[in-house]
Amino acid sequence: MTDHENDPAAAARGARLASDFTQSLHYDRRLYSEDIAGSIAHARMLGRQEIIPTADADTIVEGLRQIEREISDGEFKWKPELEDIHMNVESRLHEIIGETAGRLHTARSRNDQVATDTRLWVKSAASDAVAALRDLQRALLTQAERHTETILPGYTHMQRGQPVVFGHHLLAYFEMFDRDAGRFLAARRAADVLPLGSGAMAGSPYPLDRESVAEELGFAAISSNSMDAVSDRDFILYYLFAASVTMAHLSRLAEEFVTWSSDEFGFIRLPDEYTSGSSIMPQKRNPDFAELIRGKTGRVYGHLMALLTTVKGLPLTYNRDLQEDKEGLFDAADTVMPALSAAAGMVRGMTVGVDRMRLAAESSYVLATDIADYLVRKGVPFRKAYIAVAALAKQSIAAGKGFGELTMDDFRSASKLFDEDVMTVTLKSAVEARDVPGGTAPERVMDAVQKAYGRLHATVAEE
Ligand code: ARG
Repeated sequence: MTDHENDPAAAARGARLASDFTQSLHYDRRLYSEDIAGSIAHARMLGRQEIIPTADADTIVEGLRQIEREISDGEFKWKPELEDIHMNVESRLHEIIGETAGRLHTARSRNDQVATDTRLWVKSAASDAVAALRDLQRALLTQAERHTETILPGYTHMQRGQPVVFGHHLLAYFEMFDRDAGRFLAARRAADVLPLGSGAMAGSPYPLDRESVAEELGFAAISSNSMDAVSDRDFILYYLFAASVTMAHLSRLAEEFVTWSSDEFGFIRLPDEYTSGSSIMPQKRNPDFAELIRGKTGRVYGHLMALLTTVKGLPLTYNRDLQEDKEGLFDAADTVMPALSAAAGMVRGMTVGVDRMRLAAESSYVLATDIADYLVRKGVPFRKAYIAVAALAKQSIAAGKGFGELTMDDFRSASKLFDEDVMTVTLKSAVEARDVPGGTAPERVMDAVQKAYGRLHATVAEE
């Protein structure tokens, strides 16, 4: 409808809108050090291969170093109208070294350039996530080691089920975060392939030495297919999936923190720095960090779903849609990293309500399975024993008694096979009885803690 030719102001507005819509500088400037490292390695290789004069390669490298300093010192003048980080760096290089700057982009396209930058970024972000997970695992181990004999009810369906020791419960999270670290390591491996040398998509007509660029940038391999290299983003999907599952695990832990720190449970007290007061209710200590970990989980899932959707309909090779890969990636990292460190802080600093945990176990029927097992040891088939103890539980609930308060007569009314020694079925005997690998017997848990320290030590040494 609007005829821009007759309305310069509208034309200018339209142009601004168009460039706002396409530009990515406000987020991809975060890739500046990867972009400059990639350019330096590329320029050096061009010089070594005599594709450009060595002296020009040196000048380019010097100029790029200066740009890196300007950016890190906050002196760089960003120009959004130049669209992205790559064009901003290249244009500044022209200002600094003049025409020679024009040789840098020989045998390169922004397509293999941006894929290289993003792979470098994902590799280091994945390493950071692994390190943060290891720290959280260490925090869990420290607490687990202190609580190999702290008994609390284990829950299924949020109903008290069987007694466990708190260290065992914490070690469950150790295992989840261990697998999460494995997924981030897989993301790092997926990203560890150099696209440079793929050009826009078909490869390059120059005698490139791609291996040397890979080596200089620390990539384990070079890509095998130029069209794949510029167009897939599965290495980001790996990262986003690893981040999503990590957030799912963190969210479960956070949910337990919220529940456990409530007055109703009183199982833990969160450290002050991870709670906040209410603006109206002076007594409150709200578990805000835990709630925000739980609350932010969805946005990370969202980024995974968004990128899966972005790539699903794309013909080979590069399409501008792919520019949408970065904001979600960065936001996922900015979410999962502080969530991991807050979780580690809460685990380290929490006070454990040992007495409240024991009381919850005592004032419940968590010994029912063990009492049935007692009858099984006297020769009763398990299903029959189960029925007898179910009747016993029903009867004690009706009488308002805990198992601990039942008399021998109560027991005998459920089965003649009960003897005085049923009184030796206690919370302690119940956890001690679960003496299988992976079970909650305190000795097993202590052993699991020691093994976990060993595993952590071994992996951290090689990561
Ligand atoms: N900003 C772009 C991105 O992130 C860089 C690559 C642009 N390539 C192109 N052919 N327009 O994907």
